[in-house]
Amino acid sequence: MLRHIRVNDLQVSFNGEEILNHVSFDVAGGEMFAIIGPNGAGKSTLLKVILGLIKPLGGKVSFENDNRKTVIGYVPQSRTIDEETPILAKDFVSLGLPARAVPWLSARERVTVQKAMMMTECLHLADKPIGKLSGGERQRIFIAQAMVRQPDVLLLDESTANLDPNAQEQMMQLVQRLCRKHGITVIFISHDLHVVKEYADRVLFMSRGHYEIGNSDEVLNGKATEWLYHATDEEKPKTIGLFREPAGQLTDHLF
Ligand SMILES: Nc1ncnc2c1ncn2[C@@H]1O[C@H](COP(=O)(O)OP(=O)(O)OP(=O)(O)O)[C@@H](O)[C@H]1O
Ligand SMILES: [Mg+2]
Repeated sequence: MLRHIRVNDLQVSFNGEEILNHVSFDVAGGEMFAIIGPNGAGKSTLLKVILGLIKPLGGKVSFENDNRKTVIGYVPQSRTIDEETPILAKDFVSLGLPARAVPWLSARERVTVQKAMMMTECLHLADKPIGKLSGGERQRIFIAQAMVRQPDVLLLDESTANLDPNAQEQMMQLVQRLCRKHGITVIFISHDLHVVKEYADRVLFMSRGHYEIGNSDEVLNGKATEWLYHATDEEKPKTIGLFREPAGQLTDHLF
């Protein structure tokens, strides 16, 4: 069982521009953890560092797991699928299985795919072409694909973007069941503060160089939201008073 994910002092720059500036936080096993912040804040970058797709300049991510190497399921941001894509939903899900020597599935692998689709409540879509599915149905298939390797952690990058409120709610309830019933640790990015308030145990608010962490009431207190999404750079710290120390010392203080 996964006990903890420790993100310690991460630093990431692209072309000399600092994107993650000494970011540290812990996520407990079985937690629903949200990441919010404006466009370009480095949220997707942070997930990619957790996944090992981006190597940070400094700092590290470690996993404390009882009995096995931590398996991570990942649903990237805005996957576009052409409407004419001929692949069936079940075959798309099977692409999440570890690489195989033969192109066909063993009986066991077929059961694994079926189970992942059952857990994500999309087995009824198995024989439909993925291109013909609705946005909400597709997101379920994406999560099913991330589930076939029986992950300890699910990383969801804006999985509810572009869904109507009802589909959003259904998607988040599904994710919450995966977390609560199956003990999967979930880290999700969302711009929808209602979703975050309703479903996150804790929230990481990030903007370039500034981070705030807490439960959703602490973080989404209106002032913080205004600070992140509306105030200009010069106004931020002084008008809102969210941070008590100068920028250089912020992360030491906050984490
Ligand atoms: N591989 C890369 N090479 C160069 N710059 C990059 C790379 N990946 C991301 N960036 C830059 O890093 C910054 C953060 O990008 P990131 O995708 O992490 O933001 P985000 O918080 O996920 O934003 P959004 O809400 O729009 O998805 C952006 O300015 C982006 O252009
Ligand atoms: Mg992003």
